Amino acid sequence: MSGPDTKHIQRYDPLERANHWVTAITFILLAFSGLALFHPSLFWFSQFFGGGTWTRILHPFLGLAMFLSFSALALRFWHHNRITRDDIQWLLKIGDVVRNREDRLPEVGRYNAGQKLLFWTMIATIPTLLVTGIIIWRPWFAPYFAIDAIRLAALLHAFCAFVIILGIIVHIYAALWIKGTVGAMMRGTVTRAWAAKHHPGWYKKRLREEEVNPDPSGLTEPQAFHGRSNHQQD
Ligand code: HEM
Repeated sequence: MSGPDTKHIQRYDPLERANHWVTAITFILLAFSGLALFHPSLFWFSQFFGGGTWTRILHPFLGLAMFLSFSALALRFWHHNRITRDDIQWLLKIGDVVRNREDRLPEVGRYNAGQKLLFWTMIATIPTLLVTGIIIWRPWFAPYFAIDAIRLAALLHAFCAFVIILGIIVHIYAALWIKGTVGAMMRGTVTRAWAAKHHPGWYKKRLREEEVNPDPSGLTEPQAFHGRSNHQQD
């Protein structure tokens, strides 16, 4: 029988992970169906949705599903993404970020400034995609709007889609680039070394919580905090 797991701590509960993956899957379907409709050279993506007609029918409904799932996710994580003075300092030291010199950066809490900026980019673009998508949704809603409004909405829709698709590519790249991050969204846990290295402010807070309320499963058992060291392994 194996002993209690003292190496890992909880970062996401099952509901948060399910909410994230529903958002991610609907987003990917939405992006591919949207790109198929955007340009003839990408029309071949429509074969994954049962042809052009089905792509055109499904895309707005996928949009509604993604918006609803994203809204729940945004409400869950809203309060973790407030921008602080330390976040501004972190962004100004982006050179140290890309060189993995965490010891030169302000202490990072649950999310770093890059993650927070992406969060607010999602907040700006996803509701805009919904509103503009409804304005251009034929035959149901578009007839209620003037042609100039439909043209402007189509332009804004494509612009926001471009920004958020690029943003999500960066999000996926960052999740894979920082070893041990994807596990947070797959299993819900991260190693203590990962937490101490990449999110020391959050890890210290978790240690204080564990002292008050130790977890009998052993998953969150208190352990000494070793500070921000670049030599720690994940
Ligand atoms: C295959 C695609 C995706 C992968 C591999 C992925 C991976 C991850 C991982 C590993 C985390 C945890 C990061 C951490 O705890 O530090 C995370 C967080 C998050 N993801 Fe994704 N993700 C994907 C797609 C998406 C999409 C499409 C959205 C929204 C449209 C999204 C929204 C979020 C949000 C809001 C968080 C919490 C971070 C915050 O609040 O700032 N993800 N993702």
